[in-house]
Amino acid sequence: MVRAYYEELLKEFYESGGSEDELYWLMSSVLLRKPEIHGEYRLRERLVDEIAELARGRVLDVGCGMGLLSFRLALKENVEKVVGIDSDPELIDFCIKVRNKISSKPRFIRGNFLDTKFQGTFDTVIFLYTLRHNRYNEFLRKALQLLEPSGNIIIGDIDMDGLRDKIIKFADRRRLKVLRNISLGMIGDRDREEKGRLFLMVLSR
Ligand SMILES: C[S@@+](CC[C@H](N)C(=O)[O-])C[C@H]1O[C@@H](n2cnc3c(N)ncnc32)[C@H](O)[C@@H]1O
Repeated sequence: MVRAYYEELLKEFYESGGSEDELYWLMSSVLLRKPEIHGEYRLRERLVDEIAELARGRVLDVGCGMGLLSFRLALKENVEKVVGIDSDPELIDFCIKVRNKISSKPRFIRGNFLDTKFQGTFDTVIFLYTLRHNRYNEFLRKALQLLEPSGNIIIGDIDMDGLRDKIIKFADRRRLKVLRNISLGMIGDRDREEKGRLFLMVLSR
C-alpha cells in the first residue's frame, strides 16, 4: 500500500515538472541534512502506529491531507468505514486518485469540517496535526456532535501554544474522560517554527 501511495506521489511530482535533482534536494534538505529529523520521523511513525491501533468502527479523519492515515485505517479489519475530509481540494483530488489503486473503502470529502453535514455518526474521530492551527474548541465540539456515545476522539499533534492543556480543560468542562494522554517526544529544534512535544490523546464521554 505504501509503495502504491508513493509511486503516485512521485508520478505527480515528476508530471508537474519536478526533476530527480530537485527530489533528492528536497529529501536531503528535510531528511538527511538535519540528523535529528531521523528521530523525529520515528516519533511521527509511532504516533500513526498508535492511532491505527486505537481506531475502530466508523472512522472520520479530519484534515486528512494526502490520506496516508485514511488508507492505512481502511486496510484494518475492525475499521468498517473511513471518511477523510480536507478543505484543500488538491489534496482531496490526490486522495481520490490514489483510492483507485489502494482501496475503495475510504470516502473523501472536499470541504470545511465545520460546515460539512455528515451522514450518520462515527465511532472514532481523528485529528492528526489538525488542531494546532485551528479553533480547537469548535473542532472538538463538532466532533462530539458526530461521535457515537461509546466513541473516541483521537488527537495526535505537537503541543504548541498550550494546545494539550487547552484540550484537557475542554474535556474537564464537558466532563469527558481522558482515556490516554501520552508524550512521544520532542519535535523540532530551536530554529524551527514547529517545535513542541508530540502527544497522543484519547477522549470519550
Ligand atoms: C498539518 S495538515 C495534516 C494533514 C494530515 N492529517 C497528516 O497528518 O498528514 C492539516 C490539514 O488540515 C486541513 N484543514 C485545515 N482546516 C480544515 C478544515 N476547517 N476543514 C477540513 N480540513 C482542514 C488542511 O488543509 C491540512 O491538509
